[in-house]
Parts: sequence; C-alpha cells; structure tokens
Amino acid sequence: MKEYKIAVIPGDGTGPEVVSEGIKVLNAAGKKFHIKFKYDQFDLGGDRYLKTGTILLDEEVEKLKTYKAIFLGAIGHPDVKPGILEKGILLRLRFEMDQYVNLRPIKLYEGVETPIKNKGPKEIDFVVIRENTEGLYAGAGGVLKKNTPDEVAIQESINTRKGVERCIRYAFEYAKNNGRKKVTLVGKTNVLTFAFDLWQRAFNEVATEYPGITGDYAHVDATTMWFVKNPEWFDVIVTDNMFGDIITDLGAMIQGGMGVAAGGNINPVGASMFEPIGGSAPKYTGMNVINPLAAILATQMMMDHLGEPEMADCIEKAVKATIKQMESMSAGKMGYSTTEIGDLVVKNIV
Ligand code: IPM
Ligand code: MN
Repeated sequence: MKEYKIAVIPGDGTGPEVVSEGIKVLNAAGKKFHIKFKYDQFDLGGDRYLKTGTILLDEEVEKLKTYKAIFLGAIGHPDVKPGILEKGILLRLRFEMDQYVNLRPIKLYEGVETPIKNKGPKEIDFVVIRENTEGLYAGAGGVLKKNTPDEVAIQESINTRKGVERCIRYAFEYAKNNGRKKVTLVGKTNVLTFAFDLWQRAFNEVATEYPGITGDYAHVDATTMWFVKNPEWFDVIVTDNMFGDIITDLGAMIQGGMGVAAGGNINPVGASMFEPIGGSAPKYTGMNVINPLAAILATQMMMDHLGEPEMADCIEKAVKATIKQMESMSAGKMGYSTTEIGDLVVKNIV
C-alpha cells in the first residue's frame, strides 16, 4: 500500500480543531484509494513559546524540510506580541523551505453565500499566485532613533529577477496545466516604477513562451474594485507578496469567507505546506464551532500536489455535498459543530 508521511503543525487557537477534521477526511479518503498516511506532529506555536521560550529550532526546520507535505493549522496567539510567531514560525518556514509560491484558489462553491450581488460560482472562480519569499516580507530595512521624535523606519521591498521570474513562470505553467486562459499580473506600475518594472518585463518575456495564454495587467487598487464588480474577469493572478496577502483576504470574502479559504505554500521541488488561511480565531477556540472546510480543502490541495488528483477530486466532491447540508459557512452558524462537519464530509466520500 502506498504511504505518505505528512508533517502536522496544529499550531494555535482553532488550528488543532480544524487539523483534526482534515486528518479525519484524509484517512477516510485514503481508505478508498488504498493510501496510508503517517502523521508526524510538530508542537509549534504560541503555547509552546509561552511555556518554553522556544519559537522554532534549527533542527525542527531541517526535519520539516524532509517532508514533501506539511499540514498547518494556524499560527498566532493573543498573548504573544504580534510578529513574533508570525515571523518566527510561519514566515521563517516559508522562507527557509523556499516555498516561493503561495497558491490561493478563490472559488465560490454552489450553495455558498457571497456578499457580491448577482455573482455566482460561474463568475467567482480564479486563483491567486502570490510570491511568497520576497517583497516587503523579506525584512529588509531598519529603524533609527527609535522612540525619539527623529525616528526613521525603513521597510524595503526586495524583488529579484530570479524570484519574480520563477513565480511568474509557475503562474503560466499553472494556467497551462489547469485549462486556464489568462494570467493577470497585479502590480502598481504607475507608482512602484522600480519593482513593478522588473515584474512587468519578466512577465512579458515569460508570456511569450505561452502562446495559448493571454497575458494581462491590472493595478492592485483597481483589482480590489474588479474583485467586487467583475470577478469573472480573472482566471490566474500573479502578484507580489504584500499585494497577494491583501487581495487574498478580499478573495476569501467573495468566495464565502475564511471558513472555506485554503492555500498552499509551494516549493515545487521541496517541502510544501498547506493551510486554511483564516488564522487562529482565538474567540472561537475550543468551542467546536469553527468551520473546518478550509482545512479540509487544504488537504485536497495537498493531495493534488502529491500527485493524487483523484483523491483530491473525491475530497472536493465530498466538501461540495457537505456544503449543501450546511446552513452557513460562518463559525457557530453552520447548523453543525466542527466535528460534525468533519463527519459529514467523511460520510460524503463515496
Ligand atoms: C497570511 C497571513 C500571514 C501573512 C501572516 C499571519 C504573517 O496573513 O498567510 O496571509 O501575512 O502572510
Ligand atoms: Mn494574510
């Protein structure tokens, strides 16, 4: 029997609750496809940091690099100063494992409510490919004369030809392999004339290698407008780290909320990490009310990535069937508890 070793980081807040449901579904789908999973747990997150003072050890990073797939719940703790866990765990893992693509499908499923009037599953179906190792997230810059009236804070965006080009190429390859017709570069060429000039030139060059796919461009501010007004305009979006972060929260809202939004941090030749993008949701922690579908859809992306598209499709179909039975995608209003939703998805695996 085929076996996959998966590293699991349940993390903070509702992370462990939703990860459990994801694992429940993976195991059930695995039975059908004769695939076994072995899970290795990594205790990372705010609780461990508060208890032991350790955020992430070098040897843990090295160990994590040996897996093809990592399943992450959420990182972020209300008692830890913002930035410590995010930079110390999530961003460090993305960077050190060179997960240079953050793949975020924005897909409205039948029966899920969207706040966008007169738009449905046909109109809201695209993918954002967010550069995941550079840009403003690289941590370049510094501070001078802190806490004085003369304080200076500099935060620079790093854009390398290599980093930009490999991300753009991934977007075109993704389009080609998934029957998508258009790749839109989202940037700010009218103001950020150094960084997005590099992006635009790399984009234009890569686009010539894909004659069947249309290359397009949109400014990031206009993009937020189009997401609401004409989401059907998008097919595949490629953008930098910061813009990708911002537009994918908006994307999550138009696809029905954080309860259904999943993402993958992809290193095509190394360890990739799949997560529900909603965060640790402290106010719902431990209540068995959070929506686990995003985590379950993260396992679908994981299976796709591992080269098990039939199993991925099967999980997606089970999610679609479950959605039809739910009252809402919002925590506490689903008509079922977190664990019951996991059970329903398992029942819907046929
Ligand atoms: C995300 C999150 C992270 C990010 C935070 C938690 C560091 O918002 O995955 O989108 O900004 O990338
Ligand atoms: Mn974000």
